[in-house]
Amino acid sequence: MSAQTPHRNDPLEALTMGTGLRLEDLVDREALQEVCKSFFGLFGIPVRIFNEDGQLLGDAVQEQALCQYLQTLRDGRAACGATVTAVKSASPGSSGDATHPCFTGSLYRIVALDYDGRRLGRVIIGPFLPVEVKEVPRSLLRIDAGVEPEKARELMPKMPRARTETVGRIAKHMQAVLDLILFSGHRALLTSQMHLASVRESYRELQEQNQKLTESYEKLKELDRLKSNFLATVSHELRTPLTSILGYSEMLQEGIGGPLTAEQQDFVTTIRDKGEQLLALIRSLLDQSKIESGTMSLKMADVAIGTVVSDVLSTLLPAAKRKGVALTAEIAPRIPSFRGDPERLRQVFLNLAENALKFTPGGGRVTLVAATDTADAGGTSDPDDDIGYVLFASKPTGVLVRVEDTGIGIPHTERSKIFDAFYQVDGSSTREHGGTGLGLSIVKRLVEMHGGTIAVDANTATVPPAGRVGGDVAPPSGRGRGSVFTVRFPLPKR
Ligand SMILES: Nc1ncnc2c1ncn2[C@@H]1O[C@H](COP(=O)(O)OP(=O)(O)OP(=O)(O)O)[C@@H](O)[C@H]1O
Ligand SMILES: [Mg+2]
Repeated sequence: MSAQTPHRNDPLEALTMGTGLRLEDLVDREALQEVCKSFFGLFGIPVRIFNEDGQLLGDAVQEQALCQYLQTLRDGRAACGATVTAVKSASPGSSGDATHPCFTGSLYRIVALDYDGRRLGRVIIGPFLPVEVKEVPRSLLRIDAGVEPEKARELMPKMPRARTETVGRIAKHMQAVLDLILFSGHRALLTSQMHLASVRESYRELQEQNQKLTESYEKLKELDRLKSNFLATVSHELRTPLTSILGYSEMLQEGIGGPLTAEQQDFVTTIRDKGEQLLALIRSLLDQSKIESGTMSLKMADVAIGTVVSDVLSTLLPAAKRKGVALTAEIAPRIPSFRGDPERLRQVFLNLAENALKFTPGGGRVTLVAATDTADAGGTSDPDDDIGYVLFASKPTGVLVRVEDTGIGIPHTERSKIFDAFYQVDGSSTREHGGTGLGLSIVKRLVEMHGGTIAVDANTATVPPAGRVGGDVAPPSGRGRGSVFTVRFPLPKR
């Protein structure tokens, strides 16, 4: 709230403080106009309602013929103006009621509109001619030298006539009606104020909560940054001694340090295998922290996806053979090349194929498929693009690689979570398969950095594993049928 006269800009604020209550805040002008109209309809006496500042809020008036006549005379006009000014500024005393005479013999009744001890405005009733005035008064004849007594006598009876006491009673009645309207208006105003106050309070609370949430978010972001830094530093520091361990164990294996017994060879092989595993984990951690900090960059070149996939195939063939899994690749001819980082893409498909191999038991199958992604000739929005392809039915829109396996499958409910860092479907410490759950999260980010997408589905082409009968019907959990990971890279529009 501002320090200086706050209610000037905010009437509701002013009302809460008990000041600045205005007639037009409590009753709308239409209601006041309606009151004036019905009063005039009943009694034929003009009525006007003003607020405390003298502003007209409602009226029902018919200009009197006598007044119109007097307006045509110079002194008459001046006298009329003076009377009107006097009536408007007349202040009913504490009784709330006053009468002001006019030189025509008519009267104005002024009734105060008070509410809750405050004066909000006034009602002016008149001019009306008291019944006892029979003759044209001298004051009227003398007001202007041009007044024709005949004319005045003719016009005076056209003035609305009423008993002064009757007008007094009508005025009291009108005061009571307006008081009632003011009361209900005030009540409505208070209710809406209370509503407003409670909305304001809720808004304030909401802002407070928002502030707290923003602070926690900032703290979490800072913690996340610290964690990423920590990961990057630790991984880096681990890699240096590990390279030595691997180098020396390789030298031992090759007999550079002297001949080894069969048992020693076994031990050294284990040291090397575990060392390699550790190195892969450290690489994943480093990649993850690079991705999180946004410092991962791609070395762009023209990528022939067929070459990348064959390379992954030959890398994994020995391991597949050892496990008894049939690993094959189906590479379509003439797949368009596209811009990408061949080494990072190799990492993507190596990871997907390693997963497929890891989660497919002996006797199963893993297939790598590379093909051109096409769209129907009529399916694109740009008709000019399609002219050449209408004849050939489809046009290349991208490149796709699928990694299909007949392994344990991924339950439907888990499919969106496996791309989260460190998430593993079987997260137990006694899990059968190794790994840290970083592979897919890195894969997804690398694919997205190439403008591509990755999706996972159940392998619907597979028959149920041995022992299961019932044909090619998917088990409800989605498990046991194997998985298909599909990666798509868009080709630039020509
Ligand atoms: N082909 C698949 N078949 C069945 N489950 C899979 C397959 N690929 C991934 N998953 C599930 O998704 C999880 C996450 O995979 P991700 O590659 O991120 O981690 P990981 O292989 O466990 O560990 P890392 O790749 O870091 O060595 C896996 O733990 C596994 O539960
Ligand atoms: Mg993995």
